[in-house]
Amino acid sequence: MTDQMLPTRRHVLAAAALGAAGAPLLAGCGDGTNPAPSAGDAIARLEDLPDGGVKVVMTNAGSPVVLFRDGERVTALSGVCTHQGCSVRNEVKHLLCPCHNSKFDFEGVPFEGPATEPLPPLDVMVEGGDVVVA
Ligand code: FES
Repeated sequence: MTDQMLPTRRHVLAAAALGAAGAPLLAGCGDGTNPAPSAGDAIARLEDLPDGGVKVVMTNAGSPVVLFRDGERVTALSGVCTHQGCSVRNEVKHLLCPCHNSKFDFEGVPFEGPATEPLPPLDVMVEGGDVVVA
């Protein structure tokens, strides 16, 4: 993991300020078959991400991705819960998997619930205003 993929303290504070309304509610799936995002997939427009905030988006293939924007820089974590594969959502001060209530901090580290493995980082870049899987 490089430092470019790590959410910063600013991400945590901004997510808290945004609240749950700042991120879409995602349906949990629970079958563990979320397809991995593919390189080159455009998953969001930079302008649609709150600067200094957190937003969970879905790829066209149906995989959740947690995006953190800091100006023109975007970092990402997989939004697929490491317990049994449901989609996580932003819950003000942390990420929540609604299937069995695992909670993750904005570094992706689980701190409550049955998940024990962190959410893996995902390489993304901004190209022409699109956030693209690297
Ligand atoms: S699938 Fe996320 S807590 Fe079980």
